[in-house]
Amino acid sequence: MTSGIVNIKNKIQTGFTLWFTGLSGAGKSTIANILEKNIKDLGLKIEILDGDVVRTHLSKGLGFSKEDRDTNIRRIGYVASLLSRNGVIVITAAISPYIDIRNEVREMHENFIEVYAQCPLEVVEKRDVKGLYKKARSGEIPQFTGVSDPYEEPTAPEIVVETNKETPEESANKILRWLKENGFIER
Ligand code: ADX
Repeated sequence: MTSGIVNIKNKIQTGFTLWFTGLSGAGKSTIANILEKNIKDLGLKIEILDGDVVRTHLSKGLGFSKEDRDTNIRRIGYVASLLSRNGVIVITAAISPYIDIRNEVREMHENFIEVYAQCPLEVVEKRDVKGLYKKARSGEIPQFTGVSDPYEEPTAPEIVVETNKETPEESANKILRWLKENGFIER
């Protein structure tokens, strides 16, 4: 039936990867979860690849050396590229602290949007939602990003959200606006 075909056509969507990067506790997962709901409400297909979650299966057993982090990011990037090239919207939420590997995964994609969840270390450390910064300072957790391990800020991210100045909802709305203005989702 014609109407059925029209409906199917309306569901065709452009796949892309929204790649969050930022310190632990900067709000990557929180904003990703809000966006997931908003995008699902538009009837679009979306998957979240969250560092904390991916490390319980796909990247289980990996630690936090540069080598292991790179492996983690390459795996997330690979899965994201497969999904997004098949029309799925993918949101990744991993610290992804190194510029070279972020650029490597960017190259694997046709549509790659880097979102910097920017928040000063003092602020995330004060929040210390998971209590990990305290452990990092005491040395209980070694190689902790921002404390005893590097975080390389993005030099040309498509979007920056300042999570110490915006609520997670405001950041999510900013990203949605950008996606609409740039033709990734319909207005
Ligand atoms: S990444 O560097 O490989 O991108 P990923 O986002 O997957 O990191 O995992 C980061 C999460 O692991 C943090 O939010 C925190 O909960 C936990 N974690 C445990 N140890 C560390 C560490 N040494 N550095 C950073 N995060 C750590």
